[in-house]
Amino acid sequence: MAVAEETDFVIVGAGIAGLRAAIGLAADGARVLHPSEQARRGPRVLVVTKEALDESNTYYAQGGIAVAMSGEEDVALHLDDTVNAGDGLVNREAARVLVEEGPLRVEELLRWGTDFDREAGKLMLTREGAHSRNRILHAHGDATGAEIGRSLLRHARAMPNITLREWTTTCEFSLRDGVLPRVGLLTLDNLGYNVDARAVLLASGGAGQVYSDTTNPAVATGDGIAMAWRAGAEIADMEFYQFHPTALSLPGVQRFLLSEALRGEGAYLRNAREERFMERYHPLLELAPRDVVARAITREGMGPGGEALPVYLDMRHVTKIDPATRFPGISKFLAEHGLALRRDLIPVRPAAHYLMGGVRTDVHGRTSLPRLYAAGEVACTGVHGANRLASNSLLEGLVFGARAAEAMAGETQTPHRNQIEPWTFERSPDDFSEALNTLQRVMWNYAGLLRDAEGLRLCHDALEKISSHKWGWTGEGYSRARIEFQNLLIVADEVVRSALARHESRGAHYRNDFPKRDDARFGRHSLVSKGKEVTFVDFQRTEALA
Ligand code: SIN
Repeated sequence: MAVAEETDFVIVGAGIAGLRAAIGLAADGARVLHPSEQARRGPRVLVVTKEALDESNTYYAQGGIAVAMSGEEDVALHLDDTVNAGDGLVNREAARVLVEEGPLRVEELLRWGTDFDREAGKLMLTREGAHSRNRILHAHGDATGAEIGRSLLRHARAMPNITLREWTTTCEFSLRDGVLPRVGLLTLDNLGYNVDARAVLLASGGAGQVYSDTTNPAVATGDGIAMAWRAGAEIADMEFYQFHPTALSLPGVQRFLLSEALRGEGAYLRNAREERFMERYHPLLELAPRDVVARAITREGMGPGGEALPVYLDMRHVTKIDPATRFPGISKFLAEHGLALRRDLIPVRPAAHYLMGGVRTDVHGRTSLPRLYAAGEVACTGVHGANRLASNSLLEGLVFGARAAEAMAGETQTPHRNQIEPWTFERSPDDFSEALNTLQRVMWNYAGLLRDAEGLRLCHDALEKISSHKWGWTGEGYSRARIEFQNLLIVADEVVRSALARHESRGAHYRNDFPKRDDARFGRHSLVSKGKEVTFVDFQRTEALA
């Protein structure tokens, strides 16, 4: 059976960046169509996601969205905090765009019905690590991402020219005749088909599954990065993986995120002797930048013989809020495991949370390949530098999703109508679990919070061994599990290569063998692409992207 899939834009991913871009393209993109076509319809936007629409990092975001809503001074402070957290590597232009356009985008969300928490009618603001003032909006206490996702989805569903397609895995991106973008999609029945478009946006989120311990859902397998990499795009700053300091640490229980907002509301960190310890690490104590807190917890959680010691989050003394009301989702999860914020010390340890690196883009979402755009966690504008400021990621998705849509709308070359013969793949054996466990474990042990050359080399060799096993792209069969596994291998390898090349410590990248920051040699972004050595570049000095 031949199918003809015609669309103008394909968006890979239905988190905050993807949905905001879809809305922008469907609404404003109509302006750039030929008037006769415009009368007929707006541009067609196809959003694909490999699971249900509400399964993405966006929906798991608890703490909130950082935004400077009270004027110029506030915006300047938000910029300073973003730049300072980024440890000398923030692309200032991208950060300026983020903080200046943020309020506009959040006002838009309010108009679209996002139900942020209020007190006496006024938006409530909280604080998280490395913020110099309270500027974090939250919704339903600790379900900010889910609430934003809900309102964006409702808005997108009301636009007839947006098609939302669930349970569809995007496998490949290519440029037909070097010009027109095409994506290869795979259905749940292992049916493959191509879709051509005027432009493609990668908004496929992060890659937390590259580590054994992560706050990310199972879908976070670095698909967009790997796809762009295979197509030859530039990938940047892969050594900068942010580890959230406080994930719940109970044997046999998933690494559930315990929002930084808990510390924003006054929670302490305590070591195995139940002493507060952050004063030994940073003047901002529990609200120090995330990389500092995560490393402090790792150090306190290691006994003299390398044995694991518990570290706790302590909210028992906080009386100004009712934790069960302010953090209902967290409280519910803890209660299911016999714990209560009011009553108990909560065992925590860091977990992989957010990738600062990704597909290199300019501030309009343009990658180094024509008509391929990226926004949100999959992208690297350099806005977070070496360490993302807490709660800047939802804002990033909104601001750069909207910007990418504006730029994509200018891609007017319409694809040919195409009749496509879909193909059914033999399903490859799906059991990559052993190899995947090895990959995640070596990444955690050797390319995690504390790194050195020896460990990174061991990790690199282990990844090579896994890669050289019989499962290559040329092997028999095909499946979503196989694609994800291949994608994680690519991401892992680029994290390790970049971490090996950066002979310094900065932000989330800490080398025991190079413990100091070295601005003269490494005050630049790392860049990799398929088959090329790691190089270091200054984003603000290099030429515009495609
Ligand atoms: C949190 O709630 O701590 C996560 C927010 C973020 O990652 O910015």
